[in-house]
Amino acid sequence: MKHEWIKVFSPATIGNIGPGFDVLGLAVKGWGDTVEARRAPAGVVISAITSAQPLSKDPRRNTAGIAAKLILDLLGVKGGLELKLRKGLPIGSGLGSSAASAAAGAFAANYLYHGGLTKEQLILPATKAEETVSGGFFADNTAPALLGGATLTRSCVPLDITRIGSIRKLHIVLVTPNIVVLTRHARQILPASVPMKDFVYNMANTALITAAFAKNDYSLFARSLHDVVVEPVRAHLIKGFAQVKEAALQAGADGVAISGSGPTVFAITDNIRKARFIEQQMVMAFIEHGVKSRSIVTSVDAEGTRLID
Ligand code: HSE
Repeated sequence: MKHEWIKVFSPATIGNIGPGFDVLGLAVKGWGDTVEARRAPAGVVISAITSAQPLSKDPRRNTAGIAAKLILDLLGVKGGLELKLRKGLPIGSGLGSSAASAAAGAFAANYLYHGGLTKEQLILPATKAEETVSGGFFADNTAPALLGGATLTRSCVPLDITRIGSIRKLHIVLVTPNIVVLTRHARQILPASVPMKDFVYNMANTALITAAFAKNDYSLFARSLHDVVVEPVRAHLIKGFAQVKEAALQAGADGVAISGSGPTVFAITDNIRKARFIEQQMVMAFIEHGVKSRSIVTSVDAEGTRLID
């Protein structure tokens, strides 16, 4: 049975959820990466990649391959794995693309070798795999990708993650412009220090977003989706960002922020019809800046990485 192919899906994630830089993360439905895997005699081989962008099949340079190898080593098994990766998430999109592949690779390796590791135990290897491409060690994409819902990272070393919960009424509009922002670069431009008043403002909003997801409280989330520290520094990486944000707010969004390190922008509402209008207006605003985008109206993925048929 376990020599057959299995298929693992890992969802897109919104790193930071606005003000919670490197701390908050949220899994969303609809978009994600898929890894098909089966046991192989030795080592990790990536035999196929379906992706709109060129991507190395070298398992040492691909987060799915790196994470799978880390799990095999951790379990101390002699066998290997063959992987086929289908990228649903564009690279450099701010949707946790590297993390989704890493989470799916780690999950597949653990499952096929009866590793018995919990999803929580897969977070560290998946995060290490992501570190090789992102240039930073943070779990605000890998943790929600694996666990589903919203997650909070208290500390990376040692890793201390808490799953917070979900907000049922929340509709999320994701708009991914046709621009590549590499997380590595988007981190290099961050300031070395932050004014105390900005620190307090972002800390308060981060704490309240945590409470909102714990209490399933949409209105508290909507009031707290403000980032005065990182967004102003990264906004210029996203052509038309200010106008897209304004278009979403004018269309009735209750909050707008950059997803992860961008360029994906997300807006929130508790009204599905409004969500479709907000989506249209955001896409139009990008077009007015000569930027094509793809978009989706979605909601929280409470399940995280999982086997699919
Ligand atoms: N917390 C990371 C960052 C997420 O903003 O750099 C990257 O998706």
